[in-house]
Amino acid sequence: MNILSVRNLKKYYNTGENKVKALDGVDLDIRKGEFLAIVGTSGSGKSTLLHMLGGLDNPTSGEVIIDGRNISGLSRDELTIYRRRKIGFVFQNYNLLPLMNVYENIVLPIKLDGIKPDNNYIEEILKLLKLEDKKYFMPNQLSGGQQQRVALARALAIKPAIILADVNWCSLFGCVSSV
Ligand SMILES: Nc1ncnc2c1ncn2[C@@H]1O[C@H](COP(=O)(O)OP(=O)(O)O)[C@@H](O)[C@H]1O
Ligand SMILES: [Mg+2]
Repeated sequence: MNILSVRNLKKYYNTGENKVKALDGVDLDIRKGEFLAIVGTSGSGKSTLLHMLGGLDNPTSGEVIIDGRNISGLSRDELTIYRRRKIGFVFQNYNLLPLMNVYENIVLPIKLDGIKPDNNYIEEILKLLKLEDKKYFMPNQLSGGQQQRVALARALAIKPAIILADVNWCSLFGCVSSV
């Protein structure tokens, strides 16, 4: 079964005389359980694609189907709820709330949905991402890689159908040279 399908997806940016075809007819199928990395040079359209897949921005044309639902057909409100329950999104700039600690950031989307956090599961995620001793730290007390892992923990905590992560691989898992 495909957890995500994309058909002829286009995103053209028209800012005055600067026309950019950021995506120009993307087709993609991702099966349930599949792990896929999209690699490309800076400016090649990776973030744009992820934003379209996550319903964060509207494509110029084309279809995005996640877990059997065509998200292009959803209203704004439906999309907000669908996104919060089904899609774990890790932003390129992490988007952590600066006045909330690590734990509060992680459980925020769950609480917005009026659900009680599964604290055993949250502890498991914190251990997995080596953040168990940072639970009560504020984002500005963390390294870039640690902040990115908090953003990943927040995405995992909602038990989403799919995780879309706009990540720097090196800051997550370490590289010999930094990029
Ligand atoms: N909001 C925007 N307005 C105009 N052009 C944009 C906008 N966002 C991205 N672009 C352009 O789209 C192209 C792809 O950008 P992006 O998806 O951010 O690339 P990547 O994430 O692969 O580095 C770039 O040429 C960029 O300048
Ligand atoms: Mg990018």
